[in-house]
Amino acid sequence: MTTKLFDLTGKVAVVSGAAQGMGQATALALAEGGADLVLVDRNLAGAEATASTVRALARKALVASTNVSDPAAIAELFRQVDAEFGRVDFLGNIAGDGHLAQPEDLAIADLHRVLQNLVVGRFAMCQEAGRRMLAQGSGSIMNIGSLASSTALGRGHIAYSMAMGAVIQMTRELSTEWSHRGVRVNCVTPAQVTNPSLAARMQEDPTLEGRFLRGIPAGRLGRPADIMGLAVLLASDASAWITGAIIPMDGGNMAMNAGGTPGHEQHRVQTFRQEHKP
Ligand SMILES: NC(=O)c1ccc[n+]([C@@H]2O[C@H](COP(=O)([O-])OP(=O)(O)OC[C@H]3O[C@@H](n4cnc5c(N)ncnc54)[C@H](O)[C@@H]3O)[C@@H](O)[C@H]2O)c1
Repeated sequence: MTTKLFDLTGKVAVVSGAAQGMGQATALALAEGGADLVLVDRNLAGAEATASTVRALARKALVASTNVSDPAAIAELFRQVDAEFGRVDFLGNIAGDGHLAQPEDLAIADLHRVLQNLVVGRFAMCQEAGRRMLAQGSGSIMNIGSLASSTALGRGHIAYSMAMGAVIQMTRELSTEWSHRGVRVNCVTPAQVTNPSLAARMQEDPTLEGRFLRGIPAGRLGRPADIMGLAVLLASDASAWITGAIIPMDGGNMAMNAGGTPGHEQHRVQTFRQEHKP
């Protein structure tokens, strides 16, 4: 019963950002669940490496180096998907880039670039996948948002936050328009998940990891593999009545008030007090 509920056999999943991180973890989880994969990433070598693992699981894999900021390239991608598979059951809309600049310094061209990537690009992926899913009468889209979709991060995240805020509204609108025709649209909002750019920023500022952890009651940063269960759930019929949801994947970050104290911090303070009792 449980296995059947989460079975993805016969489903075709398009996943962007599939060369590494959460995109790769999503692709591998879906392949393990039985889906065939379209692996999209501008890093072609990385996407090919993911494809090898998918094929080793006896699933089909099509690789595309589509730039997800470019709607014309996205339209071409889906024509390839039509030719190869003739259907799309799941879209993992994951690839994306931010740009850091203080609000007073942000160049309008950089703002346009981020919005083109995270808003227009994510929408074009939803539109192309959605048209096919509507014609089939079924499908599921998982957009990746961020903590920055609904709270402010500071540290020059203005362009990224503006774009990620739009991603959750896009999700709600698409779900409202499409779910009665069998197409579900949800948004996962991760807190800090380890990746090379986050690692570089934490190395540059040695206080950053500690500050992140003070916002994460679960007591550790996210790992790309943390998205695997959600991806399988959202791609499968087990989530048939889940749509329009903004789903935190954040170790408890959004549940805690900014002035709150996570349990691991409280524990550290109590231990310190006990060890330093006069
Ligand atoms: N890592 C985090 O802490 C975190 C938190 C919240 C949201 N997010 C968002 O989740 C998504 C994935 O994050 P991640 O940590 O897995 O990222 P990552 O940097 O590990 O991987 C991103 C992948 O997307 C590809 N990519 C980037 N821009 C592309 C483009 N225009 N066209 C095609 N491919 C492109 C890259 O080549 C890379 O393989 C991003 O949109 C990110 O903004 C990340």
